[in-house]
Amino acid sequence: MANKVFELITEEAKRQSEGLEMIPSENYVSENVLKALGSILTNKYSEGFPGRRYYGGNEVIDKIENYAADLAKKLFKVPVVLVQSYSGSPANFALTMAVCKPGETVMGLSLSSGGHLTHGANLSFSSIFYNAVNYNVGTDWKIDFDELERLAKKHKPKLIWAGTTAYPFKLDYKRYADIADRVGATLVADISHVAGLIVGGVHSSPVDYVDIITTTTHKTLRGPRGAMIMVTEKGLKKDAEIKSKIEKAIIPGLQGGPHNNQTASIAVALEEASSDKFKQYAAQVVKNAQILAAELGSVSETHLILLPLVSYGYGMGYQAQYALEVAGITVNKNTIPAEPVSPFYPSGIRLGTPALTSRGMKEKEMIQIAKWIKQALEEIRGYDIPAEKEKRLEFLKEYKEKIHSNNNLLSIQKEIKEFTKRYPVPGI
Ligand SMILES: Cc1ncc(COP(=O)(O)O)c(C=O)c1O
Repeated sequence: MANKVFELITEEAKRQSEGLEMIPSENYVSENVLKALGSILTNKYSEGFPGRRYYGGNEVIDKIENYAADLAKKLFKVPVVLVQSYSGSPANFALTMAVCKPGETVMGLSLSSGGHLTHGANLSFSSIFYNAVNYNVGTDWKIDFDELERLAKKHKPKLIWAGTTAYPFKLDYKRYADIADRVGATLVADISHVAGLIVGGVHSSPVDYVDIITTTTHKTLRGPRGAMIMVTEKGLKKDAEIKSKIEKAIIPGLQGGPHNNQTASIAVALEEASSDKFKQYAAQVVKNAQILAAELGSVSETHLILLPLVSYGYGMGYQAQYALEVAGITVNKNTIPAEPVSPFYPSGIRLGTPALTSRGMKEKEMIQIAKWIKQALEEIRGYDIPAEKEKRLEFLKEYKEKIHSNNNLLSIQKEIKEFTKRYPVPGI
């Protein structure tokens, strides 16, 4: 039976090698990150924290967890790091539990402006168990700090999130801190998307401005799926008990035993991110995004591009995602600020360069890739999403049948298969 799984893994490895992976929250990890993740450390139970476990036999596990935290402390220049959260969303849940009582107010960037679900979106724990207030971007697509300040003064949030998931600009953490300090809120930077860029020195660090930082480890940081919660000096000064509050929120609040194989794999990624080679990588990720954005008629200050498709027609995000997939380019459909259609049939796509850069692609390759993207997008013209909601599912079914065998897209796919042979995938 297990053979079936390995056959499928081989099939997925082929997909990841032969196409252009451009989802900005994805990356390729190194062989060593994979090795640690697939190691015997998965066999061990270690509820608790180093030196304070509920199970015996954790001498080595303690060393691994301490080593991972120490590496992160040095890399991000923070005094406290916790590495046990299973992933970004549970880390944000634990952090919210540590800072807020149920029903208290949290403020975050709205989903449609590029915020994350866990920062106060509908249907997320963050709005089910807490009073969520959202701020937005303005017409220039940048955070509307005037609105943020107005809302903060009015609602007096306990916690303000400074973090994004579909936002192509750098964040002004000082501006956030000015507002949070004035209303007495705990300021948390969720740097999931830009952690690798911060370590690489190509994105400003929030360390001097915020109280707490959360991050996933699997995006620009090039680690396994996982997360870290860090407390800054400012955060410790504000609340000397914050570390133990976060620990209690992780276990017993939210989780049981940590995933030790994941912790070890995070440590390997942090070792790799400490190198000069990683700094060059991060700089290239941003350079590549800027070139790609310019070629597509957009802008980026990070690793990510949010491309509006309104010039191609009405509600074209889904159609673009599928046409690009047929051509061998993986992106995701995304709402754009002031989304005119709906989150399910949005008007843009989100794409990025972390994974392509991990394969060694540079400016020249970005120009070629932009050409393919523009060619592929020509094929979606005329396929506007029907204004009548009940016709949409049937329309998309027919659209996919037609586009699936579109010769222009299939010929791009062939070219990309040839092209990608020159750029080996780490770990495959
Ligand atoms: C800013 C931000 N925070 C949190 C998360 C959640 O991470 P996970 O998918 O690991 O739960 C994401 C994931 O996309 C993110 O972009």
